[in-house]
Amino acid sequence: MKLKNDTLIRALLRQPTPYTPIWLMRQAGRYLPEYNQTRTRAGSFLALCKNPDLATEVTLQPLARYPLDAAIVFSDILTIPDAMGLGLYFADGEGPKFERPLRAEWEIRDLTAPDPTTHLRYVLDTVSQVRRALAGSVPLIGFSGSPFTLACYMVEGQASSDFAAVKSMLYQRPDLLHHILAVNTNAVIAYLNAQIEAGAQAVMIFDTWGGMLSHAAFREFSLAYTARVIAGLKHEHEGVRVPSIVFTKGGGGWLERIAAIGCDAVGLDWMVDIGEARTRIGARVALQGNLDPAVLLSTPEVIRRECGVILERYGRNNGHVFNLGHGISQHTPPENVATLIETVRGLSGDYH
Ligand code: CP3
Repeated sequence: MKLKNDTLIRALLRQPTPYTPIWLMRQAGRYLPEYNQTRTRAGSFLALCKNPDLATEVTLQPLARYPLDAAIVFSDILTIPDAMGLGLYFADGEGPKFERPLRAEWEIRDLTAPDPTTHLRYVLDTVSQVRRALAGSVPLIGFSGSPFTLACYMVEGQASSDFAAVKSMLYQRPDLLHHILAVNTNAVIAYLNAQIEAGAQAVMIFDTWGGMLSHAAFREFSLAYTARVIAGLKHEHEGVRVPSIVFTKGGGGWLERIAAIGCDAVGLDWMVDIGEARTRIGARVALQGNLDPAVLLSTPEVIRRECGVILERYGRNNGHVFNLGHGISQHTPPENVATLIETVRGLSGDYH
């Protein structure tokens, strides 16, 4: 079925669009009261992810409220390590944790990539249900964590301010980390290709923690594996291009290298000037970003001004997907999201 609104796909491929498309990282989430209600009905965040009917419902919630240009499948990046047997759980107010983080060498040697069609069937079922429900209105984005960002949680066992356990493995037992990363790479390739086959029309790789590495370590332990993922992806499904987006939080110093791995678009956090990023890599890739999520905690005037700055810095060009520089805060007033989307729609026509 042909998409009624294909501005996201066109922008990712740097083709002309009448305005700048917009979607938001974590657009289905706790800032929406209807999300919180569905999560309560599911019992927990993880139960919500694992129930395709309810996951479909929350995927569609932000689209019912706002004229967004894309849906993103409701899930989490940590479903892969969960499917590997590490036992994902969410302690109240503490973020994700694993019952069995990777500690002993034998546990690491035993690690295998899960078959997404069995162990992650619930995500694929959600993808196909959402695609059916969208009925071609807007494209559906699938996603995965990067091999390195997944390894951070798998080794650490939880979120961390400095990821000391991963870094100590990186410097003292690089062979073990490379083994985890190789398994993760195969897992991510199989998972994203399965999402594409189930109906995802673009895919995004979240490298949330690559930015905490040294220059050399980023290339060796993060980017090299993300590059292998991109090389292993299906770039076309049923004759239609499936664009890929790579987002490295804190990756502003490495934009040229990220843009060179063969992805169609590069996600930007809010620490880079999108105009400079365009000069540096805009001839090769589309750019997605880069509003500071904290702007959405302010007023309509500030939101309009900050959107204006980003659109103006990107300038009169194709290839920009408006987004936040990281996930939306749970404290965001929903009406500020409406202001953001109206503003981007209203102002961006002048740049196309
Ligand atoms: O964008 C979307 O709407 C799709 C859904 C999505 C979620 N997580 C839902 C979620 C996506 C794309 C993610 C990605 C994700 N998950 C990342 C990469 C992006 C990033 O934010 O850096 C990471 C690192 C995770 C791991 C994770 N999941 C963390 C650290 C947390 C806790 C942080 C928090 O906000 O509480 C989660 C939980 C999570 N994932 C929630 C949602 C809506 C909140 C859980 C809840 O409802 O209680």
